[in-house]
Amino acid sequence: MHIDDDVALQTPVCDVLGIRYPVLQAGMAVAGNGRLAAAVADAGGLGTIGSMPGGVPRDQQMDAVRRETRLARSLTDGVISVNIPMAYGLGDQLLEIAIEEGAQAVSVTAGSPTRLAPLAHQHGLRVLGVVGSLSQAYKALDSGVDVLVVEGTEAGGLNHPDCLSILALLPKIANEVSLPLVAAGGFADGRGLAAALMLGAHAVQMGTRFLASDECHIHSNSKQAIVDAGPDGTFLLWEGRHYPSRALSTPYTKHLLEQERAETPVEQRVRSADAQMDGNLEAGMLTVGTSSYLIDDVRPAGEIVRAVVREAVQILGAAAAYTHP
Ligand SMILES: Cc1cc2nc3c(=O)[nH]c(=O)nc-3n(C[C@H](O)[C@H](O)[C@H](O)COP(=O)(O)O)c2cc1C
Repeated sequence: MHIDDDVALQTPVCDVLGIRYPVLQAGMAVAGNGRLAAAVADAGGLGTIGSMPGGVPRDQQMDAVRRETRLARSLTDGVISVNIPMAYGLGDQLLEIAIEEGAQAVSVTAGSPTRLAPLAHQHGLRVLGVVGSLSQAYKALDSGVDVLVVEGTEAGGLNHPDCLSILALLPKIANEVSLPLVAAGGFADGRGLAAALMLGAHAVQMGTRFLASDECHIHSNSKQAIVDAGPDGTFLLWEGRHYPSRALSTPYTKHLLEQERAETPVEQRVRSADAQMDGNLEAGMLTVGTSSYLIDDVRPAGEIVRAVVREAVQILGAAAAYTHP
């Protein structure tokens, strides 16, 4: 394990998950491969296997999740999890893989963790629930999750229909729910981690930042597009609908937005996995967060973890001095 012995930042999320640093790699269905999860876990964070690594066809999906989880497990003793989107009805199979392949946690999203949480606990796995509203947070609390991931509208990928900024959502939930909290959506650096801790979280979860890492298996064009993204780099598609989604601004996603505004039905399957893996952004949608504006390079994932923690520790130390005039 590669660690910085001189940097210490331990929070309740670290204690519950057994990780050294309060940095989580987000569940990303297609992009969450074993090498990436292992690199983050090996650096002391939590690495997460996506539910459809590489965007394989449905009949190969579970094999791909098993293969990538096994790979991650073989590369590190660190803490890894498997992402379980409940909406696809594959929760039991994904949990079974997590248990059999030695993951220490699962993150449950797009649906209720109520049924799976006790099963996961029986096998000694920690359960993270992903929420985008206070009402979802109460439900997740009742379902027995160990850690709550609070996702603001800055996040890449599917958003909660309320589309609330993490700046308002996180303190609201922190005031009401006493569980270890993780902030997600728009975080890419140590400033973000320090701010998240001040807003009531005990860790950050980052997706887009880890897309632009050496170990993530998405196409280099897609990584470069994140680095190149400017202030208007992302927008929300399908705002006000059940599943709004934040995506990189490209000719293809602008076309989808025009269709949405004209209220013409989307005539084609939305090509998301394709854009990530083949890098053809003219013809596919790349879901990324507003954090893309902060990302200037493609780096090893472990370096990202260490840089984020180091910067946060410096900032927190400097801020403490404000209270001693
Ligand atoms: C490419 C991509 C795919 C994602 N897929 C999933 C997913 O399958 N399951 C899930 O729970 N969240 C998914 N998300 C959301 C992330 O888990 C995370 O909360 C989000 O990336 C945080 O915002 P950030 O991208 O600004 O860091 C995805 C995000 C991205 C960028």
